Amino acid sequence: MEISRYLIKGGRVIDPETGVDGLFDILIEDGKIASIENPQSAIQNPKSKIIDATGKLVTPGLIDMHTHLREPGHEYKETIETGCLAAAHGGFATICCMANTDPVNDNQSVTDYILKKARMAETVRVYPVGAISRGLRGENLADYGELKAAGVVAVSDDGNPVMNAQLMRRALEYAKGFGLLVIAHCEDRNLTANGVMNEGITATRLGLPGIPNAGETVMVARDIALCELTRASLHIAHVSAEGSVRLIREAKARGLPLTAETAPHYFSLTEEAVINYDTNARVHPPLRTAKDRDAIRLALADGTIDVIASDHAPHSSIEKDLEFEQAANGMIGLETSLPLSLQLVEMGLMKLNDLVARMSINPARILNLAHIGLKPGNPADLTIIDLKKRFTVDANAFQSKSRNTPFNGRELKGRAVLTMVGGKIVFDEARE
Ligand code: DOR
Repeated sequence: MEISRYLIKGGRVIDPETGVDGLFDILIEDGKIASIENPQSAIQNPKSKIIDATGKLVTPGLIDMHTHLREPGHEYKETIETGCLAAAHGGFATICCMANTDPVNDNQSVTDYILKKARMAETVRVYPVGAISRGLRGENLADYGELKAAGVVAVSDDGNPVMNAQLMRRALEYAKGFGLLVIAHCEDRNLTANGVMNEGITATRLGLPGIPNAGETVMVARDIALCELTRASLHIAHVSAEGSVRLIREAKARGLPLTAETAPHYFSLTEEAVINYDTNARVHPPLRTAKDRDAIRLALADGTIDVIASDHAPHSSIEKDLEFEQAANGMIGLETSLPLSLQLVEMGLMKLNDLVARMSINPARILNLAHIGLKPGNPADLTIIDLKKRFTVDANAFQSKSRNTPFNGRELKGRAVLTMVGGKIVFDEARE
């Protein structure tokens, strides 16, 4: 059995939940945080194993509330086991997985299956997201009572929009009754149609059909109106467009129960990433312009966007080694999300404390998780980060089964070196 007594010494502890930011030692016993003390108090516990975090950052276990694990159904792209390993290596102690598996997670047996596989993987915590509609078809609602009892923390048809506004209204009302969050994939399929990248001069030059910003913003506006009507908790997934940011900012100012997330590719890249027809840069919603990217960065800094989530979307060469127009949407992100996000701090665009909040505390609050932050008595979920570590992204070294990242070969600075879940080390760079 693994030692469950650790003393993490000498690290800079940042916990936006408790407001802690400074040098502290953390004692972990029986899988839980026993105490957090000033190093001068010299916690003594001869039975604990020392983890030296000198010069490193210690944060609450990071949470990625938007991933695709592909199991059941597409195990050649990712399994729950490999997805969990990728998460642990990326610094995530907890992840949510979307319902667009095969079969779709619209019932108890699929949720049970995912939770069983996650338990067997014995790495990170996995919270499944159930489907809004049966089969993600946007016609009939799934049974939220059944899904909630089975263990889902939210419902979403992610990958597909709910095109019928009346069905979306009913989903919000129904989910509210069960205290479930609704996560909206905002896309108007009539506007996005056969588009494969952002609409504009670059798409015209490349001869590729475009997707206008309105393909997203029209649905963000609709869903905000439905949030106002129902007063149900609504979370907007993968925000990519400036206009969406404006609408969300305004709706939040009016006090609606609305939250939002973006993914690292929307604040790290623009549509220029597509100019070599790199299918790894094909994603939905598409990479936008510098103006959109800058609006996303500002929205993250001022809190309009609450969460950074990877939208980890593994695809194999079968779906990606194709002509751009034939390729699948999506890129993997679990193993690059933290380093890419840290670049915002490095560039002076965000405070480190705020970044930690967007990647740990905020998703925990939005998902209504039971234990939040590094408090004595809470399960010892934490991430140790080396802010100075420079490395080159090497997709072939990823834990994920898939390789579809446009960031391969990129020089980055800062990454997780240890991930702990319930007092168990699930990733330790020193042991790799
Ligand atoms: O690019 C995407 N890929 N966007 C989505 O919304 C779904 C995801 C997937 O499942 O591959």
